[in-house]
Amino acid sequence: MTVDYVTLAKTIAALTEGESDQVSLMATVTCEVHHSDDRFDWTGFYRVTEPDLLKIGPYQGGHGCLQIPFSRGVCGAAARTGQVQLVADVDAFPGHIACASSTRSELVLPVYDGAGEVIGVFDIDSNLPDAFSQQDADALSAILSEIFSR
Ligand code: SME
Repeated sequence: MTVDYVTLAKTIAALTEGESDQVSLMATVTCEVHHSDDRFDWTGFYRVTEPDLLKIGPYQGGHGCLQIPFSRGVCGAAARTGQVQLVADVDAFPGHIACASSTRSELVLPVYDGAGEVIGVFDIDSNLPDAFSQQDADALSAILSEIFSR
């Protein structure tokens, strides 16, 4: 299954029109993205709640770790560096945090607000190895920018 990112972006934009509350936006993005593709087994946000710390936000899938320091894991790397983390094999990523032992690959994108500050990360985990492409990263980055940087 391949995501129709044009339709997904339009749906999310329509559902969130006029909304500025970050948690409401995160919940809506999570729901729409999670159900757009069978590759996505865990989909959700971690929020920057204090310096160098991420806390769980809206998500779909099995329970996630509640806190992730910037120094740890794929999510921490995305928050620390502000760079997209496309991990084809989580076992090859030093310090990967295994919230679910079934996870084989993941894509984590930093989320910026309108002031250019990192407010959190958007994490998608797959039980399939090498599930994510640069096309996924680019399309999802564009959606996040459209929704959270406005
Ligand atoms: N695997 C992530 C942790 C988050 S969960 O899998 C939901 C990481 O290493 O950042």
